[in-house]
Amino acid sequence: MRELTAAFEGALARRADLVAGWHAEGSDAYRLLHGAAEGAPGVTVDRYGPALLVQTWREPVDPAVVASLAGAASELVGQSLRPVWNHRVRPVDFASWYPLADEGDPVARELGVVFDARLRHRGQDPLLFLDLRSLRRRLLVEARGLRVLNLFAYTCGVGVAAQVGGAASVDDVDFATSALAVGATNHAANPGSAVVRQHAADVHAFLRGATPAWDLVVLDPPAFARSKHGVVDVVRDYPALFKPALRALDAGGGVVVATHHVASVSAAAFEDTLRRCAAKAGRPLRSVEMFGPEADFPSFDGQPPLKVAWCVVGSDTDAAAGVRGAPPGR
Ligand SMILES: C[S@@+](CC[C@H](N)C(=O)[O-])C[C@H]1O[C@@H](n2cnc3c(N)ncnc32)[C@H](O)[C@@H]1O
Repeated sequence: MRELTAAFEGALARRADLVAGWHAEGSDAYRLLHGAAEGAPGVTVDRYGPALLVQTWREPVDPAVVASLAGAASELVGQSLRPVWNHRVRPVDFASWYPLADEGDPVARELGVVFDARLRHRGQDPLLFLDLRSLRRRLLVEARGLRVLNLFAYTCGVGVAAQVGGAASVDDVDFATSALAVGATNHAANPGSAVVRQHAADVHAFLRGATPAWDLVVLDPPAFARSKHGVVDVVRDYPALFKPALRALDAGGGVVVATHHVASVSAAAFEDTLRRCAAKAGRPLRSVEMFGPEADFPSFDGQPPLKVAWCVVGSDTDAAAGVRGAPPGR
């Protein structure tokens, strides 16, 4: 336990300037300790608004230690944070939650956007994945006027960022209706004039039936999932998802943002897979920009598990004429 406390002290010290920056830009949701990369294998600590969430994947921790972590974090952030601990043992069991204190008003803010951040709910994962902030930040700036398709939407964090960023429309697709219900609350809690449609559907089935009409498609699949409509297996067959996502773009072209969360697949290998798949599908990529999570998710080797590929795709006409490497633009 002493190791955990020492690792947390180091992690807080490294974040002193970052925290000030996050607060200045309207964020009170961020990671304060990132597991093995910061000397604490199997433990993460996150701030979600008024609560401090400690998650453990290996050994349980002494509740008194969790409370002391909350005390140390409260000093850094200048607000009293209520400790909540989730011991993520299998099988998933609601009893594995240890509400050490009432988590308070379950709302978190990120870049001025408001999210439902109830920590105790039916699922194991938090309602907002903090590592994807890098993409949400970008959508806040780049979504203006676009028709956005948000595949594997979960609680619609990406769709909400697009809405606040001025998207013309947002289509969120996920087969989990409980996640979409949280997403509906998130959309309603934020400004924006986007037409928002939620589709409680399997992504494979949705894409088969969709008329291509989007300017920006976000593809953020889990590592593996099986349904009666198809399999999601990002390591063995990413093209099975990427190809139909490319086809969902308007004939005028646009952007497909594809993510990959599996650590054993490098950013270079992922980019190569996407480029080959797009070329084979007759919609070669004009440019690919790779990025990862922000500074609260440090990695040992600069190769974080989360890889985001921002892929600019030309128009059908360009593709037919064999145009390659033209500057991105719409
Ligand atoms: C990693 S989460 C996506 C996170 C989300 N993009 C975000 O911004 O928070 C994966 C989601 O995929 C959904 N899912 C998995 N397989 C699916 C499928 N075949 N069709 C629709 N949704 C699926 C799950 O319900 C879950 O909400």
